[in-house]
Amino acid sequence: MSKQEKLEILILDDEKQFTEELHEFLQKSGFESFETSNFQDANLVLAAHDIDLLILDVWLPGINGLDILEDVKTRYPKLEVVIISAHGDMDTVIRAVRLGAFDYLRKPFRHIDIQIVIERTQKYLHLQRKLKLVEERNSLISKTLEEKIDRHFIGISPLIRKVFDAALAASKYPDANVLITGESGTGKENIARIIHYSSTRKDHLFCAVNSSAITDSLLESEFFGHKKGSFTGAISDKMGFFEVCNNGTLFLDEIADMPLNLQSKILRAAEEKTITRVGDTKPISTDFRIISSTNLDIEKRVTEKKFRLDLLHRLNTVNIHIPPLRERPQDIEPLLIHFINMFSQKLNRPEFTIQKEVFSELKHYSFPGNIRELKNMAERAIILSKGNVLEVHDFPTKAQSSGQLSDELMSLDLEKNEISLVRKALLVSNYNQTKAADLLGITRHALIRRMKKHQFKIGKNEM
Ligand SMILES: Nc1ncnc2c1ncn2[C@@H]1O[C@H](COP(=O)(O)OP(=O)(O)OP(=O)(O)O)[C@@H](O)[C@H]1O
Ligand SMILES: [Mg+2]
Repeated sequence: MSKQEKLEILILDDEKQFTEELHEFLQKSGFESFETSNFQDANLVLAAHDIDLLILDVWLPGINGLDILEDVKTRYPKLEVVIISAHGDMDTVIRAVRLGAFDYLRKPFRHIDIQIVIERTQKYLHLQRKLKLVEERNSLISKTLEEKIDRHFIGISPLIRKVFDAALAASKYPDANVLITGESGTGKENIARIIHYSSTRKDHLFCAVNSSAITDSLLESEFFGHKKGSFTGAISDKMGFFEVCNNGTLFLDEIADMPLNLQSKILRAAEEKTITRVGDTKPISTDFRIISSTNLDIEKRVTEKKFRLDLLHRLNTVNIHIPPLRERPQDIEPLLIHFINMFSQKLNRPEFTIQKEVFSELKHYSFPGNIRELKNMAERAIILSKGNVLEVHDFPTKAQSSGQLSDELMSLDLEKNEISLVRKALLVSNYNQTKAADLLGITRHALIRRMKKHQFKIGKNEM
């Protein structure tokens, strides 16, 4: 019963008068009813309609009704079967129930008997459908539940406040699509969730989909759903993301990587708010808002003909760009305090004190992994720390720990690299100028000259 409306019932019985009467009664009771007197005709009806209930006489001439039962239950697992048995034939009833019959009726029966059976079937089918919906939703919810609870927005810099204001503005227009751009780990998904949970769609699903994580052959059916049997492996009807997030938000992560053929289908769905399951013809309307994100230069992808311009226009009604952490160093301190508190609670550790130098040091780091990197740093520091004071050495940056050059150093800007090298040498030598100069391969005078040139203060806390 994929439809909300009428229960569809098929009668298979060779007793003409009986089927006619029952058929008429069912029609009058508001059901869609079909009457057949042999298995061939019944098969045609089963193939052409979405039958919910088969009322089957197990005493058909020339064929064993139990074989029919077994056959249809295999081919149509969702179909419920009520058998009609002769009076006193309990043996057949028991075998039928074992083969999956839902109920039985003993001939002769009154209309009230069949009514009760149908009501029971209807309730059962209704519950089944609800359960399936809940299961489908749960599989998506469980993935996102953890993050759903853990929704924070920390940041004091004017740049990030602008982002936050834009997110709140977007949440007031629950039908406007939003494109969020920014480097990896800047908090794109975080902002997407904030928009969803501050909007009128908040009681419905936020469904996060990363299409590059789904194999190409499954992409279409994951998005649009499929009808049972539409391809090998499609063992039952299934809803796709567009249907699952009806009234909610579909978050398309990493859209720049979406295959071109899917792009045109997504565009159509976004424009028409109607989808058709794979292998089906029936259009289904669904109401969703798309928030998408990318860390790539999407305009460049358009120029390279890898992303459709019309889709970009459709997704980009509101554009929110999240600047990288290195462009808003004021946010490092509140973020670090937040993450340290968060992990110390999570890991059951007492309160920590963070030394001031930690902040000033991290403000000079380039954070190629942005907020995610800072968060990981905080977790690592708490796990490895012995006492409850966190110092600079508790926060090794990628460049220090792997011995590789940081992004900052990779730049060819001589001036910048000089500042960075001087700073690092001083840090590593614990501000011993002779040692630092040794590390740099220059004299102490040369080091002091450079420190003055770049306005380094000579005292260690004033850098
Ligand atoms: N302003 C913020 N305040 C607190 N935590 C944040 C903030 N922004 C991001 N985070 C946290 O940082 C982590 C990375 O954020 P998120 O996953 O949203 O980044 P992203 O831009 O989607 O990353 P990617 O490009 O790698 O998918 C998450 O754990 C998120 O909770
Ligand atoms: Mg992300």
